[in-house]
Amino acid sequence: MTILVTGGAGFIGSNFVLDWLATCDEPVVNLDALTYAGNLQNLASLSGDARHVFVKGDIGDRALVDSLLQRHQPRALVHFAAESHVDRSILGPAAFIKTNIEGTFTLLEAARTYWSGLQGEARARFRFQHVSTDEVYGSLAPDAEAFTETHPFEPNSPYSASKAASDHLVRAWHHTYGLPVLTTNCSNNYGPFHFPEKLIPLIIANALAGKPLPIYGDGLQVRDWLYVRDHCSAIREVIERGRLGETYNVGGWNEKTNREIVDTVCALLDELQPDPAGPYSRLITFVKDRPGHDRRYAIDARKIERELGWRPAETFDTGIRKTVRWYLDHRDWVAAVQSGGYRDWVDANYTARAAAE
Ligand code: NAD
Ligand code: TYD
Repeated sequence: MTILVTGGAGFIGSNFVLDWLATCDEPVVNLDALTYAGNLQNLASLSGDARHVFVKGDIGDRALVDSLLQRHQPRALVHFAAESHVDRSILGPAAFIKTNIEGTFTLLEAARTYWSGLQGEARARFRFQHVSTDEVYGSLAPDAEAFTETHPFEPNSPYSASKAASDHLVRAWHHTYGLPVLTTNCSNNYGPFHFPEKLIPLIIANALAGKPLPIYGDGLQVRDWLYVRDHCSAIREVIERGRLGETYNVGGWNEKTNREIVDTVCALLDELQPDPAGPYSRLITFVKDRPGHDRRYAIDARKIERELGWRPAETFDTGIRKTVRWYLDHRDWVAAVQSGGYRDWVDANYTARAAAE
């Protein structure tokens, strides 16, 4: 048997592929367009491993997706590929519409054709696993109940709107065509191979470089944080035992303000890599807020726990310590990622923000 993964050179996808092949021998075909966020170095430890077949290509390329499905006959398609950065979606939403909506549509159609042609056991076994986000639910008031799977969709950014649209398409392909789909809506991930334009790796990289640590607005926005390998284990459970057509919320029961996150990372760096110039928190800088910045996300993950017995293995304390250590041990990886293209992004996103008064 084989699985087809999309976006497996990105942050979560590469962790998923590495975890998958560490826990079983079932081959992975990995379709990834290698945008700025895709990085084959994440998969360097699989070099020469025949269980991993990498294909550079776009999920919107129907002929390519059809040929991969026909050639490899996967028993599951695990769909990570997306434009995933809220700030990028604000500065340039077009790519989000193209990949997250049109690309998902193309995959669904290709999967439908493939699945319709399967017989017997192969047809009964096939799964389309769609990886989505808690951001589709919108923003919560401070005292509101955490998001359950029945919370209305109220996306507020081009990113979350495009993911919400893709979730709706996946749902419709199940209800209309019977495609055996599963959807997971997960909170903010952190861990190894996280691209250093997202909050946690950005703070680590900037602190080590002695650069300002930018906090948007008042920094009291709340996110739930999940260690990436726990997200991977949740997806594995859902593929194997999730109920068809269902959505499962995945979270870490770790609500933190952005200030708490930055303070925690600074304190860990003070302990593990002290800076003679003083505590890293001296670099914290409050900058102009993100437009439409969602105030709070919180995940109620009781359904996946109740139905599939999944719980995160890491607490925030254990996960963030592992993460900071990983970045200290992999400075070459960060340096390689911080290419010319990355520098252009930093200019575009932060120059206009200038330090808030
Ligand atoms: P990422 O941006 O790190 O990786 C995305 C990957 O998709 C990259 O390797 C990129 O090259 C590839 N890709 C982009 N467009 C493509 C296209 N048209 N065709 C083929 N490949 C393409 O993203 P991530 O953080 O790993 O997120 C993976 C998935 O998980 C996304 O669907 C995202 O919405 C979802 N998600 C992310 C988080 C999070 O905290 N990062 C939380 C919940 C859900
Ligand atoms: P991010 O990592 O971009 O994830 P998301 O927007 O998908 O939640 O941001 C996490 C939080 O950190 C979000 O509230 C925005 C905030 N943030 C900053 O305060 N400063 C920064 O430089 C970045 C990138 C994010």
